[in-house]
Amino acid sequence: MIKMPQREKTRTEMWPQSLEWHVTWHWLEKYLPEDGVILDAGGGPGRYTIELAKRGYDVVLLDIDKKQLRRAREKIQERGVEEKVKIIHGSVTKLKDLESDTFDAVLCLGGVLTGLTSIDGEKRLTEKRERMKAIQQLKRVCQVEAPIFLGLCGLALVLSTWIGFFPDHIKDLPAFLDTHLLQPKGETEKYFFHGHYFTPKEAKDLVGKQGLHVENVVGLQGPAAPVLPLLEDIEDKEKKDIIREICVKTSDMPGMASISAHFLVICFKR
Ligand SMILES: C[S@@+](CC[C@H](N)C(=O)[O-])C[C@H]1O[C@@H](n2cnc3c(N)ncnc32)[C@H](O)[C@@H]1O
Repeated sequence: MIKMPQREKTRTEMWPQSLEWHVTWHWLEKYLPEDGVILDAGGGPGRYTIELAKRGYDVVLLDIDKKQLRRAREKIQERGVEEKVKIIHGSVTKLKDLESDTFDAVLCLGGVLTGLTSIDGEKRLTEKRERMKAIQQLKRVCQVEAPIFLGLCGLALVLSTWIGFFPDHIKDLPAFLDTHLLQPKGETEKYFFHGHYFTPKEAKDLVGKQGLHVENVVGLQGPAAPVLPLLEDIEDKEKKDIIREICVKTSDMPGMASISAHFLVICFKR
């Protein structure tokens, strides 16, 4: 029987949501410098920060949510990497405590630009100028030739999930398609974030307009994306490994970014 999609917050912790983490790391490993200082912008509970610190990088973890940062601090201490990590409370749209041309790489993963929130945490910043400000700031703080990784939430999978699972709310979709702004209400609120969802073309244009060179746009769940809930019952490690490998190998095939729940834009400051 087809199950409802899992809640977003489990995506990097549990199978099959962990596919996103796995494919992301494939691409991080390909483009990250061997060492240096990395900004994890909107890093929330610090999953990427901790892994980066364990791999020897110095990391600045920045987020707008003080509660997430407290949780991150505890985990960072538990894992014994606190000397490698500096935690900053702030907004990716300002980065006011960070100097220009500083970082060897910048991460802004997990749909931060979809759910951009104001500094007081009270409202979603859904206007295009806020996404542009964020990208300008990420560009400003990284060094020339440094990679910037943007993990964005895709529009197409929201449409197909919504059509399949929430036919009673189908009248909300034309406005979403026009604006890319999703404002879930009622039962849909449990499964979707309020925010701006991207197409790969839109993301490339936005990033290109800020003067960044787009190197690659890859899907993070690829062929597994439309059937993610069906994978939940798979327990066999070998089968999971094969699915992970398929998702990695197909991630840069044409169209995979479009159908994924999340896709990654890899760009460079030139
Ligand atoms: C879904 S979480 C992703 C966390 C992490 N990047 C990951 O992939 O595991 C989105 C994060 O973006 C943060 N965020 C939202 N608006 C922000 C802003 N204006 N500046 C910095 N962080 C922001 C949220 O607080 C949250 O921690």
